[in-house]
Amino acid sequence: MTPDLAIDVHGLTKRYNGRTVVDRFALQLARGRICGFLGPNGSGKTTTIRMLCGLLKADAGSGTCLGLDIARGGAEIKRQVGYMTQRFGLYEDLSIRENLDFVARLFELPNRRAAVDDALQRLGLVARQRQLAGTLSGGWKQRLALAACLLHDPQLLLLDEPTAGVDPKARREFWDEIHRLAAQGITVLVSTHYMDEAERCHELCYVAYGQLLARGSAAEIVAAAGARDLEDAFVRLVGQAQDNFAAG
Ligand SMILES: Nc1ncnc2c1ncn2[C@@H]1O[C@H](COP(=O)(O)OP(=O)(O)OP(=O)(O)O)[C@@H](O)[C@H]1O
Ligand SMILES: [Mg+2]
Repeated sequence: MTPDLAIDVHGLTKRYNGRTVVDRFALQLARGRICGFLGPNGSGKTTTIRMLCGLLKADAGSGTCLGLDIARGGAEIKRQVGYMTQRFGLYEDLSIRENLDFVARLFELPNRRAAVDDALQRLGLVARQRQLAGTLSGGWKQRLALAACLLHDPQLLLLDEPTAGVDPKARREFWDEIHRLAAQGITVLVSTHYMDEAERCHELCYVAYGQLLARGSAAEIVAAAGARDLEDAFVRLVGQAQDNFAAG
């Protein structure tokens, strides 16, 4: 166990019906870092995230999340990780406060009321706390989802496309919050299809066809691909992977 690594996994593999959707994924991520997780639709990002937090059993590979074995430590990992799913997972017919209170009960938090008050405050949701979640705009829904996954004070956030369909201003505010959290020592793995968000990450992983194609800072990935910018680098990488895929 290396305590300064929030994520340390090797060889993570997942197959569905004989098809390998995540192929020997490896990641070492230091605490307090923001790592962007990029790749085309269906490239295995969500599957990988679910294996990291012990929700899905890997067919091969191993490793630790916050020093806990991902194969056996599922219950404890869930207590220390905030996982924001790709689709809005809260109750549309409950208010913001009721949703947070419900999640606080699931985590059996000792000071539920204080934890909910704190989350409302932290994410600027106090004024809207009685509003039904179903009536919120996309940006506010995502803010509520982030508040819910922060309630139990997690050390690591796994955010699966947290800003999909959210307008630029709300996305920027969301990212300001992610940076504030990282500055407090929280580690973040965040999947996104937005290049401006990728640029705001300390480091990146790029996957396609279940394969890890690039790893490093945005500048490192651009330089290694001989590309003019990040988008160009990813287009080149996925093109090469397609060629290899066709040839192999
Ligand atoms: N439970 C499942 N059973 C069968 N196939 C699955 C299952 N879950 C995922 N897959 C397949 O695994 C591949 C990877 O899916 P995954 O959802 O991990 O990709 P993703 O990178 O998150 O995509 P997106 O960007 O669209 O969210 C896809 O081809 C998907 O259809
Ligand atoms: Mg996904």
